[in-house]
Amino acid sequence: MDKTRLKGKNCLITGAARGIGAAVAEHYAAQGAKVCVADINLEGCQEVVSRIKENGGEAIAVTLDVTSREQMKAAVQATVDAFGSLNVMLNNAGINKPLMFLDITEENWRQIMDVNGWGCLLGMQEAAKQMIAQGKENGPYKIINVGSILSRQAFDDVIPYSCSKHAVQAMINGGAKALVDHNITVNGYGPGVVRTELWEQLDKDLVAIGKFEKQGQSMDELAEKMILMKRYSYPEDIVGTASFLASSESDYMTGQLLMIDGGIVLQ
Ligand code: NAI
Repeated sequence: MDKTRLKGKNCLITGAARGIGAAVAEHYAAQGAKVCVADINLEGCQEVVSRIKENGGEAIAVTLDVTSREQMKAAVQATVDAFGSLNVMLNNAGINKPLMFLDITEENWRQIMDVNGWGCLLGMQEAAKQMIAQGKENGPYKIINVGSILSRQAFDDVIPYSCSKHAVQAMINGGAKALVDHNITVNGYGPGVVRTELWEQLDKDLVAIGKFEKQGQSMDELAEKMILMKRYSYPEDIVGTASFLASSESDYMTGQLLMIDGGIVLQ
């Protein structure tokens, strides 16, 4: 690993207390980035920060509910106070709760769209304001949004989630156009099936709504039937692309959503 690949990059990662966000935070720090680890779960953030520091990296932990503008502003400010500037914003926080089509409720729709859609937009806006204030001569700055294979298709048991991830695709596309003159690029990546606590919970919920008979079946069946590579993934499969998008290697890219799904969308 190149320990200087992300040197000079001050990053804010939302939803980074566990799962893919935590793995990316550690990977960024190991490559020289300074990382603000932000999440509703402060204790989880502190554990991630401890691991980063044990490995010689630099990081801070911040409480953040991505649906609150005030908290988003405060997280951006905390990053700047600690590291001097913000160069990379990774909008990773996301939730899911499956329901069959006729059972979708207003609460289910609003919760998912609020965190995955509005939370992403707020992160983009507050990061962009800070980046614009820092001056385009100090860029390029990077906003990275986390989409999904469900940014390109929809499953019948997770329609609000699929809508929210299509919204992420739209924000990448529109955001790239809105921010290009400020030397800010907007890109994203879309995982497929990643073994994290989100999927462990989804797996249980899919059994509860009768979509699958037993736990573990959803991941195994998706791997068998839908993933060209015939295996689901782990956060370690995602971190390389996340680093590429934060690094200067991707400076000439904007408006792109890269799939990291073992070939699901292709299939
Ligand atoms: P996870 O559930 O393991 O971690 C998500 C983190 O977001 C948690 O630490 C949680 O506390 C935090 N969070 C939830 N609501 C929040 C809020 N309002 N404000 C701040 N933080 C909040 O999930 P995972 O699997 O690591 O997912 C990360 C991202 O990747 C999400 O955007 C998810 O939609 C996306 N993704 C995940 C896939 C998977 O198979 N696990 C597949 C495709 C996309």
